[in-house]
Amino acid sequence: MSTTTTTHGIAEQQALMIEQLRTVHAMKAAALRMFDPMLRAVEAEQRNPDMAEVVDLLDNMLGAFGEHRTQTAAHERALLRRLEQLDRRPLGRLARGAAAAGAAARARLGAIGGQNHGANARDAFVYEHLEIALLELLERLATRAGDVETARVAHACLVDDRAMAAKITRNWENVLSLALASKRIPSRRPDDG
Ligand SMILES: [Fe+2]
Repeated sequence: MSTTTTTHGIAEQQALMIEQLRTVHAMKAAALRMFDPMLRAVEAEQRNPDMAEVVDLLDNMLGAFGEHRTQTAAHERALLRRLEQLDRRPLGRLARGAAAAGAAARARLGAIGGQNHGANARDAFVYEHLEIALLELLERLATRAGDVETARVAHACLVDDRAMAAKITRNWENVLSLALASKRIPSRRPDDG
């Protein structure tokens, strides 16, 4: 392979990396907008007497998603800072909305913001895996393009998103209990004895 071809390949990888960085930033900005209505809905349900049986699960959900909202805000800032350091702009408002809506539609995330917290956790699990897939590719793309700092930022986000996905994985029984309680269907929980 000639030097010219190699250099050309790197420039193309860098261009693709910027595109991917903008998409990941758009996903994080969209996630931030989804957290707030969801957290408000969980808070409202904590005061709902019909949900008294699962109030401990709602508390846990609020804690876990509240913590991941803080992490996601830090991710959004780090990705934006990286775009600025590379002298690139994030996607415009409309394109950002379209990218996030496209991703959400692909993941069928219609229930976020609704009252079914089981469905919210299920959709959050799908969204985390979309973020993980995009970040895996971004980290590798940045590494191949020789951009160590972008690879580092992507990896840091990846660690938090993998941890969040793993937390949901450990809580499927609780997710189901919340889904049943949201539909006012009584059920025994595995820890009921
Ligand atoms: Fe996430």
